[in-house]
Amino acid sequence: MRIRHAEISDLDIVSKLESEGFPPSEADTKEIIKDRLNKFSDCFWLLDDYGEIYAFIAGMATDEHDLKDEMFKHSEMYDPDGDWLIILSVVTWKNQRHKGYASEVMNQVIADTKALNRKGIVLTCKEELLSFYSKFGFVNEGISQSNLGGAKWYQMRLIL
Ligand SMILES: CC(C)(COP(=O)(O)OP(=O)(O)OC[C@H]1O[C@@H](n2cnc3c(N)ncnc32)[C@H](O)[C@@H]1OP(=O)(O)O)[C@@H](O)C(=O)NCCC(=O)NCCS
Repeated sequence: MRIRHAEISDLDIVSKLESEGFPPSEADTKEIIKDRLNKFSDCFWLLDDYGEIYAFIAGMATDEHDLKDEMFKHSEMYDPDGDWLIILSVVTWKNQRHKGYASEVMNQVIADTKALNRKGIVLTCKEELLSFYSKFGFVNEGISQSNLGGAKWYQMRLIL
């Protein structure tokens, strides 16, 4: 198994994983994923076992300090030299969960983002995943301005 960045040819599998991981009101559309892959495929990390993808994390480098819902609709806030990596998706196939796959990918995301000298990583999650992300050093900043899918999201930040 290796962790690699995505290519545009990964569009179908990443979209399928995204749709399995999130309800339609929260899942990123294939169109926005395609747009991101065309602009910043290096902000995608895939766990790849000889061509089989088990999990991925997708983000966007930006100078924006906080996650904004517009980031799920378009990529205008992308800045390759941005101080922050905003994570937009973390997904493992349902039948492959609890094997440490998302954690492996997250550790790589953290190492790579640190190597690029960004200030840190920001994500939003539901309450039940706060303790999962805190294991990596993310700190809960309270309820996010995000209203994605009408849910309550917490913003977490890891300073590198
Ligand atoms: C969250 C998710 C990516 C974790 O993937 P994974 O590969 O199973 O993660 P790991 O094996 O590295 O870590 C699993 C840990 O995550 C935490 N966790 C995962 N889902 C959880 C849930 N629904 N409630 C509470 N804790 C949960 C637990 O601490 C779990 O530990 P355990 O395996 O000992 O129970 C996966 O459940 C998923 O794809 N969920 C749907 C999409 C999603 O909600 N993504 C998060 C967006 S913020």
